Amino acid sequence: MSERTLVLVKPDGVARGLVGEVLGRLERKGFELVAMELRTLDRATAEEHYGEHRDKPFFADLVAFITSAPLVAAVVQGRDVIASWRTMMGATDPAKAAPGTIRADLATETSQNVTHGSDSPESAAREIALFFPDLAQR
Ligand code: RTP
Ligand code: MG
Repeated sequence: MSERTLVLVKPDGVARGLVGEVLGRLERKGFELVAMELRTLDRATAEEHYGEHRDKPFFADLVAFITSAPLVAAVVQGRDVIASWRTMMGATDPAKAAPGTIRADLATETSQNVTHGSDSPESAAREIALFFPDLAQR
């Protein structure tokens, strides 16, 4: 089923010049870019985006990192894109990510793992509305 997900190239990925690499993998796979923007997140948006982790010990560092420098936010559409993009990103900890995934190929630290993808249809809807409130749902 065609669906949408929120993709981020996190500040480490932008700073390291990996925007093209990450978006290129999406494009070569055959997914469609629906919206995209380079922006620096404010604290309130970051805390809402990662709200599920509010009580975790890494939450303060996570918010500080994701607001520290520009990131690329994109809405991406395609068949089973939510699960597919999670597979293409690899496990949260790059040391545990499968070879060939973005995190295995391009990262070493859990705290700087290059990319984000929504983890469910509910998360995707919430995150897309947060980042791109003007985007009309088709
Ligand atoms: P994301 O939301 O960024 O796409 O990553 P994810 O689903 O793979 O992982 P999630 O559990 O949602 O965690 C969000 C981000 O928090 C950092 N994290 N640090 N120190 C830790 O144990 C830890 N656990 C998670 C990672 O940067 C992760 O991407
Ligand atoms: Mg997550």
